[in-house]
Amino acid sequence: MFEIAPSILSADFTRLAEEIRAIEAGGATILHFDVMDGRFVPNITVGLPVLKSVRKVTDLMIDAHLMIEEPSRYAVKFVEAGANMVSVHVEADVHLQRTLCVIREAGGQAGIAINPATPLVSLEEALPFADFILLMSVNPGFGGQKFIHTSVDKLRRLRQMIDDRGLNTRIEIDGGIDASNIAEIVELGAEIIVSGTGVFGKGKPTEAVRELIDAGTVWV
Ligand code: DX5
Ligand code: ZN
Repeated sequence: MFEIAPSILSADFTRLAEEIRAIEAGGATILHFDVMDGRFVPNITVGLPVLKSVRKVTDLMIDAHLMIEEPSRYAVKFVEAGANMVSVHVEADVHLQRTLCVIREAGGQAGIAINPATPLVSLEEALPFADFILLMSVNPGFGGQKFIHTSVDKLRRLRQMIDDRGLNTRIEIDGGIDASNIAEIVELGAEIIVSGTGVFGKGKPTEAVRELIDAGTVWV
């Protein structure tokens, strides 16, 4: 089983409520909400006020991906503003275990995001405190980048690491995913598939979500 999490980064911000209704109609179950601060990544996007507005127009799970410095200062605020899932980057937080616990205490699902060049070993100690891992398959900062091919093997090893420990931590993958590569990723055990350009790029988000679900559904 996998879920599609369209990233609103590639949506038309002048028609956000409409774009959200369109992905709901296609069968998306999670809304991926990319937060960038212009420091951790070289781009600035949206924050708490936009999240609060989005919360009012949808019942989808909202998944806030914090690409910011000092995420521990803001993580709980994102839960309070309506995010159901909040991920913080392992590269950005020296007290990651505490931040994950605080997100859970606030009622959110806690996730660890990890950049392409960061080794999986950096997740080891914090893994039991995370509900999900957000494996980046591009360097965060922009939509529409090319999938980094080494992410396939990294995903395979992450799946193994979680299974070996008997954990039920979910795997989310983000960056460069569309109908052409989703099947391989789902087969390797990713359960939440983020797609921005793949969903909103052609102006038909309902159809694009359906197409992703079809392409990722591997019949055995
Ligand atoms: C990248 C963001 C992604 C991005 C994905 O920094 O974290 O969520 O929106 O976009 P695509 O699917 O276009 O790579
Ligand atoms: Zn993201």
